Amino acid sequence: MIKISPSILSADFARLGEEIRAVEAAGADYIHVDVMDGHFVPNLTIGPVVVEAIHKVARKPLDVHLMIAPVEPYIPAFAKAGAHLLTVHCEATHHLDRTLNLIREQGCRVGVALNPATPISQVAAVLHLVDMVVLMSVNPGFGGQSFIPYLLQKVREMRSLIQERGLAIELEVDGGIKVDNIGQVAAAGADVFVAGSAVFSQTDYAAVISRLRGNAEAAGS
Ligand code: DX5
Ligand code: ZN
Repeated sequence: MIKISPSILSADFARLGEEIRAVEAAGADYIHVDVMDGHFVPNLTIGPVVVEAIHKVARKPLDVHLMIAPVEPYIPAFAKAGAHLLTVHCEATHHLDRTLNLIREQGCRVGVALNPATPISQVAAVLHLVDMVVLMSVNPGFGGQSFIPYLLQKVREMRSLIQERGLAIELEVDGGIKVDNIGQVAAAGADVFVAGSAVFSQTDYAAVISRLRGNAEAAGS
């Protein structure tokens, strides 16, 4: 099933509650929350206090993308703040197995993200521990960047590996997803799509979310 996860990184932060309600009413399946630390990535965004505030207004599950290192010490705080799904970067921890187990112990769904240049073999041994794999299709840190074309091949390889193993893992692609390229990414095997600037740059969120979903579904993921 195709899911659209608007990234609030491109929302109007002065009206965050309204923006979240608006994309939910427009058909968002998840709310993607980008957490950046100015160390693992060259930008700073939000912490658990804001996630807690978002949790109070959001009705859809919070898809929280942690771009922070170290990450383990902060997992309990984000879980407590109301993250439904917590995604960590495999590059951000020396002990990925321990980190993924910690997320599960905290009662959240478990996600693992890979930067564009990180091979999928990096997470092959721990796929049974996760609910979602996030393939970054931009170098993380900023919204509004262009989709990196070689990611399509990585999406195909990841989808094959998930199928070979018979696992029920969601495959999310994050970065540069637009109405005119989502079809290709869906055809390659992704089923969850983060869209930040593509959604929040428009005035009619329902129209853009429905075009994103329509183009992904038509590509027959
Ligand atoms: C990038 C973030 C993305 C970003 C996506 O570091 O993880 O979630 O907000 O934004 P767009 O869709 O504009 O590329
Ligand atoms: Zn993200």
